[in-house]
Parts: sequence; C-alpha cells; structure tokens
Amino acid sequence: MNASTASFTPPRDRRGRSLHDLRISVTDRCNFRCTYCMPKEVFNSDYVFLERSRLLTFEEIERLVRVFVDLGVVKLRLTGGEPLLRRHLDNLVERLAQIPEIEDICLTTNGSLLTGETAARLAEAGLDRITISLDGLDNEVFQRLSDVQRPVDEVLEAIDHASAAGLGPVKINMVVKRGANEDQILPMAEHFRGTGHILRFIEYMDVGNANDWKLDAVVPAEEVLQIIDGQWPIEPAEPNYPGEVARRWRYRDGQGEIGVIASVTRPFCGGCHRARLSADGMLYTCLFASDGHDLKSLLRSGADDPALKRDLIRLWTDRGDQYSELRTEATSKIKKVEMSYIGG
Ligand code: GTP
Ligand code: 5AD
Ligand code: SF4
Ligand code: SF4
Repeated sequence: MNASTASFTPPRDRRGRSLHDLRISVTDRCNFRCTYCMPKEVFNSDYVFLERSRLLTFEEIERLVRVFVDLGVVKLRLTGGEPLLRRHLDNLVERLAQIPEIEDICLTTNGSLLTGETAARLAEAGLDRITISLDGLDNEVFQRLSDVQRPVDEVLEAIDHASAAGLGPVKINMVVKRGANEDQILPMAEHFRGTGHILRFIEYMDVGNANDWKLDAVVPAEEVLQIIDGQWPIEPAEPNYPGEVARRWRYRDGQGEIGVIASVTRPFCGGCHRARLSADGMLYTCLFASDGHDLKSLLRSGADDPALKRDLIRLWTDRGDQYSELRTEATSKIKKVEMSYIGG
C-alpha cells in the first residue's frame, strides 16, 4: 500500500460494489469477423474504426491505471478487438507489470497472432495469464462462426504457445450459439479434458446492436452442463474469488474443470466489480452501456492525478448498472456500445 491509499477507503457504487478489475481495450480492430461480435454486414469497408491518433498511448494508459489502483483496482485484462494487433503490446505489459499493487495481468485473444515468440515476450514482460477464444474444433464450424478462412490448428497451437510460455492455466472461451455450434460442446470438452486448460462455455449475449441477437439463439448454461454431465459426470467447485464471472464445475474423474458464464440465464451483476476502458479513453461501467465517460479529454486537457481520481470516485459512486438483471428482447434493441470497441 502506498502513502496515498493508506488512509483512503475505496469507493463503493450504489449497490455496494467496489472496483476491482479494469478491462483495457487497446484496439477496436480485429482480424476475425465473429458473427456474434463483428458481423461482416456491419464491420465492412464502410465501418469507421478509431484513428491511431485517437488511441490512448501506453503512457496514458499507464497513468490512468495508476489512478485506478488508488481506487482499488488490482486486476487488469487487456482486450480488443484483437489486442495483439496493437504494436509493441509487450511494452504496455511491461509498464503495467511494474505497478506494485497490480496482482494479475491477463490477455484475451483470438490466438491467430500468438506465436511462440510473442507468448514468450509477453510472459517476460510480466503478463500472467492468457484466455483464448475458440468456438469449435471442426474447421467448418469454426470458420463459419469466426468468418475467416483460418484453420482451427492455428488456435490450438496458440494455446500450446501460451501454456509453454507459462501463461496458464490457459482458459478457452467458447460462445455457444443455438444452431451454430452446439455440436461442438462434447468434442471441445473431450479435447480439453485432462490438459490443465480450462474450457468455459459462454451464453450468447446481446452486446452491442450489430449481432441482431435473439433470445432463442441462447443455449442456456444448464443445457450445456447437462450435456457434459451425461458424458463425464461433473460436480460444482467453489469460486476462486468473490464475483467470479464463470461458475466452476469439475470432472468427477479428476480430469480437470470447466466453467459456464451464464450472463443471460443467471446474471451476476450483484458482484460486478469491473470497469472498462476503451482504446480511445472512454470509461464504461457496464458491458452493455450506451454511453461512456471521456477520460481521454480530461487527461489531455491537463487534469492532474487528484482531479482524475476525484472524477473516477464520483463516477463509480454514481454507478447503478445491472443490465443483465433487466434484460429482455426489448432492452437488447437499445443502443449499446459494441464489444469489439469496449472489450470482452
Ligand atoms: P478470470 O480472471 O480468469 O476469472 O476471467 P474472467 O472471469 O474475467 O473472464 P473473462 O475475462 O475471460 O470473461 C469471459 C467472458 O465473460 C467475457 O468474454 C464476456 O463474454 C463475459 N463477461 C466478462 N465480464 C462480464 C461482465 O461484467 N458482464 C457480462 N455480462 N459478461 C461478462
Ligand atoms: N456473446 C458472448 N460472448 C461474446 N464474446 C464476443 N461477443 C460475444 C457475445 N455476443 C466473447 C468472445 C471472446 C470474448 C472477447 O468475448 O468469445 O471470448
Ligand atoms: Fe474479434 Fe474476438 Fe470479436 Fe471474434 S469475438 S470478432 S475474435 S474481437
Ligand atoms: Fe456488470 Fe453490466 Fe455485466 Fe451486470 S451486465 S455483470 S453490471 S457488466
């Protein structure tokens, strides 16, 4: 604890939640076009991505993180878009890893750019863990969902690279969408059982407006669990920490664990201690927010750290977000920021 936090009580929001994680999007671009995230019909040559001059620099990100740490943040997740498209990402990791209060720095990636060398460099810079998205083992299913002509093997190799670099346990995020990849649930479970990697099944969510989300495309986590349990019996495991997004289950035969992220059928807003920083320096207190708070302008207009801190305290104290607890087909149509912009 440094001198400025010694006598300071971290803020709580209107529902009593403290701030613990900051998720930092470093780019809004991606080399995939997952249909549930960046469908090609919307994210095409007409789509206006952020210009480089609008992105926060690594210096600016570091400075903001140091202020967030004063409010209680101890965990960081680097996301995108695809964060490995941001050049010299290891330099950012190195800066952030030097902040003593930060306990955990994680990266969420689609794996396509994660070579052995990149993984080793990130680990050396101070990255702790990697989460890789993969929605199926069958090339056709994978390519239809990610809408790119790349082989599944490339992602499997990335998982190996992350693991070999000591960035484990590697978590694998699989979004399950009705009619698209339910047939991959068992093959994915079989593939990752006994490897030490942790497969997590994510309910398809109505983030943003581009994906044309429908409730009937959601495969409830309960259904996924029943499918797995029918093949390899599972039992619940205790959360690793309060407010964990995934509910953990372990195979009764000792072959490891899986997780389910049931934001639609079993919302977890009550314990939500996450804030999200977009690549252009907007702060969002919910994944489903319509509006953010412009930290970059404040930063670039010369605000000092105490002013930034006061601003963030006010923002967090005013927070009342609970979108997933209020979700209906109708709320899904409200204008919301896209996940590729705000980060996963
Ligand atoms: P660990 O640190 O390993 O526990 O990871 P995590 O729980 O932070 O998980 P991760 O960042 O990999 O999140 C997994 C997925 O859960 C994300 O990609 C989102 O799809 C979803 N998710 C994460 N945070 C939230 C949240 O605050 N609200 C909702 N609705 N979904 C979330
Ligand atoms: N619903 C659920 N998860 C999503 N992700 C992206 N879009 C959605 C969505 N609509 C997940 C990806 C990735 C992470 C960044 O967010 O699978 O793991
Ligand atoms: Fe890219 Fe990830 Fe979105 Fe897929 S889910 S389009 S990999 S940012
Ligand atoms: Fe947090 Fe918003 Fe997700 Fe609820 S819906 S868990 S408030 S990010």
